[in-house]
Amino acid sequence: MDKTVIREATAADAARISEIVTSCYCEHEFTDGFSPALIEELIGLRGTEQSIERLIEDEFVLVAVRDEAIVGMISVSQNEITKLYVATEAQRQGVGARLFRHAERLVAKHGFAALLLGVVAPSAIPFYEKMNLATSETREIRGGPCKGRTVTILTKQLV
Ligand SMILES: CC(C)(COP(=O)(O)OP(=O)(O)OC[C@H]1O[C@@H](n2cnc3c(N)ncnc32)[C@H](O)[C@@H]1OP(=O)(O)O)[C@@H](O)C(=O)NCCC(=O)NCCS
Repeated sequence: MDKTVIREATAADAARISEIVTSCYCEHEFTDGFSPALIEELIGLRGTEQSIERLIEDEFVLVAVRDEAIVGMISVSQNEITKLYVATEAQRQGVGARLFRHAERLVAKHGFAALLLGVVAPSAIPFYEKMNLATSETREIRGGPCKGRTVTILTKQLV
């Protein structure tokens, strides 16, 4: 039986979430060809404990907890999923799908007609397709650390 529980994140979770986000960014070197310099920049901007604390203050963040340890997180702003990361050792066990479905229900409950997200790491796209999202557009990123890369915007109608 799956003993994973989904709950809202608190500031006390920031350190563990930061660890998961950081290790997932590191995976992108092998899965998506991100350079070590890009990974370092992304971690500095979006993976530190301080940036996760701000995320928890500014957005709605859920964590997946198994055996008292956080194994995944998702953040939502309005109708957009802004982050979804599952610890390497817990991937492909249904954790990402559970976090996604919780976030999807939340977005629907707030009356939004569609959910959206932008993906810069193409290796994640098959997962989102499994969650019944479809590509609505792709565009080149014009600034920031991912400048020159392609962002894929995926959407899902909720009503
Ligand atoms: C992408 C990610 C969130 C998926 O979470 P997960 O817990 O591993 O996925 P699940 O086990 O819930 O998978 C749900 C379904 O998607 C499929 N799936 C998951 N990852 C997949 C992949 N990389 N390629 C193809 N299918 C995939 C699973 O096989 C499963 O299908 P099923 O229902 O038919 O069995 C997770 O692998 C992750 O955090 N990756 C690194 C960071 C990342 O890329 N995050 C997204 C940034 S936009």
